[in-house]
Amino acid sequence: MRTDAVTAEKLAKWYGTRDAPVHALAETDLAIAEGEFLVLLGPSGCGKTTLLRMIGGLLPPTSGSLAVMGQPLWRDGRRNDAALSELGMVFQDANLFPWLSIEDNIALPLQLRGLGRGQRREKARELMRLVGLSGFERRWPRELSGGMRQRAAIARALSYGPDILLMDEPFGALDAMTREAMNLELQRIWMETGKTVVLVTHSISEAVFLADRILLLSPRPGKVDREVAVPFARPRAPAVQASAEFQSIAAMLRERLSAIA
Ligand SMILES: Nc1ncnc2c1ncn2[C@@H]1O[C@H](COP(=O)(O)OP(=O)(O)OP(=O)(O)O)[C@@H](O)[C@H]1O
Ligand SMILES: [Mg+2]
Repeated sequence: MRTDAVTAEKLAKWYGTRDAPVHALAETDLAIAEGEFLVLLGPSGCGKTTLLRMIGGLLPPTSGSLAVMGQPLWRDGRRNDAALSELGMVFQDANLFPWLSIEDNIALPLQLRGLGRGQRREKARELMRLVGLSGFERRWPRELSGGMRQRAAIARALSYGPDILLMDEPFGALDAMTREAMNLELQRIWMETGKTVVLVTHSISEAVFLADRILLLSPRPGKVDREVAVPFARPRAPAVQASAEFQSIAAMLRERLSAIA
């Protein structure tokens, strides 16, 4: 039987504001398979971040239910720590603490969980190897490039061993070349670790390059407008972007986006 990493049933979100309530996400059903690379794509303000933050347990749903690795994320209005520990998050900004070394930033979640110095160091160094940061253990965040800071953010998100990595436009602030390099790196890290990845992006080419499956969300209140399976073999090389099939999936998404936006 297939296990799902994340399941959502009739998940919806309204934000209370000083004016009228904002309906950010319409009732949404979702099943994300273990090990899948899922991309959420959609126009600005359609509810991608809202959906991702709800999956990550950072935002309580207004209605509906969420389960992570078979465990309910919320119980009696409280977050379930066992489900939360399966989730790691990466945002557009790396949000590293400037007064901690790269290694200490990556190990911080482990320190908060009470691990001793030796174990923290061992785990941080293993993760720094995974994300290609070996040799930068004692550097400060300001001494790293934007791409390297995002590598550190990925390592930190993986530090306590979650099965699921949630990423909200993680490369949105990077220049085009660094972004392409980071896409390749993320694919490699995903293939090496077997994690489930849910990635939010505005970029059609990033979505088609990385995803097993793309959910295209319609404008607010967000709901799934299209579900697109991306068939290319792994590992994908940048050259796949020149293929006719890649171009046709991208063109279809572009047309649909401009039709609904
Ligand atoms: N805390 C909040 N209070 C009220 N409204 C909010 C809040 N957060 C988001 N919204 C509204 O909910 C809708 C969805 O926002 P969300 O940030 O999820 O969109 P998004 O798809 O991530 O957009 P972008 O692509 O620009 O990041 C928007 O209309 C936004 O203005
Ligand atoms: Mg967003």
